[in-house]
Amino acid sequence: MTRNHTSVSYFVFLGFADYPELNSVLSVAFLLAYLITLAGNLLIIIITLADSALHTPMYFFLRNLSFLEICYTSVTIPKMLTSLFLDNKTISFIGCATQMYFLLFLGGTECYLLAVMAYDRYVAICHPLHYPVLMSSRVSMELAAASWITNFLVLMGHIAAIFTLAFCSSHEINHFFCDVPPVMELACGDTHGTEIAILLVALFFVLAPFVLILVSYAHIISTILKMPSAEGRYKAFSTCSSHLLAVTIFYGTACAAYLKPKSSHSANGDKIIALFYSVLTPMLNPIIYSLRNKDVKEALRRLSKKMCF
Ligand SMILES: *[C@@H]1O[C@H](CO)[C@@H](O)[C@H](O)[C@H]1NC(C)=O
Repeated sequence: MTRNHTSVSYFVFLGFADYPELNSVLSVAFLLAYLITLAGNLLIIIITLADSALHTPMYFFLRNLSFLEICYTSVTIPKMLTSLFLDNKTISFIGCATQMYFLLFLGGTECYLLAVMAYDRYVAICHPLHYPVLMSSRVSMELAAASWITNFLVLMGHIAAIFTLAFCSSHEINHFFCDVPPVMELACGDTHGTEIAILLVALFFVLAPFVLILVSYAHIISTILKMPSAEGRYKAFSTCSSHLLAVTIFYGTACAAYLKPKSSHSANGDKIIALFYSVLTPMLNPIIYSLRNKDVKEALRRLSKKMCF
């Protein structure tokens, strides 16, 4: 059957179409998750700006990450909510390409920012004397800016490669939003070259920062283990444990979603994994950072005192 691919001018999200009884539970859960994400990340942004004890590169990166998480969730959840609440499950072709672009651009930037944060911890713990020079406020701003700009530019070509494919089999996306694997499934003709290109970009954007993070943490952990006092070890570890936890959750789910051969995709499994990195991780980040981090907790206490008087 050959249909003209120009006829695909919109897509329809199927969501969890096999389980329509889940719709109302999911709508409420997504709405709550979105509100918690916005509130938590806004709080991190406010507190790292307002409290002078948190005016360090580490919290500058954390603020940048929180800002990123707000953008990242705003790309997917509002559209998911309108499809669940208003039963409007369609998205235009351009809308889908735009959504995927921002999803990849912001996701890629998150990988880079997490790597920059690991490098920041590496310098702070392994080279504390050089920290003020190696991680000046100018350097940290440039590192953050580089993360945003590289991803912004490179992923444009990526999106162009995907959306110039022919879409002719169906316009039903078996997912909540325009993610790469479910959209690629609808492409017809020879998608081999594009799939390899996607894998290469994924390797570059997911794996390269991941290797940087691993190397940083290998150095950090060996330095911490060599510290003479237990108190010093505990203090050093506590400044990077929340970052380590956030990295593990983010990379665990991202790898499960993207670094898998096409044949091993199960649609419902993929959707659940996608919920982890699109909804759960951005919501957990501020919680991880504020509950596990003494400086943030103290800053929160100071802020609430100021607000009361
Ligand atoms: C994040 O970093 C970029 C680049 O340095 C900067 O322009 C932007 O203002 C930062 N965002 C926040 C919320 O700190």
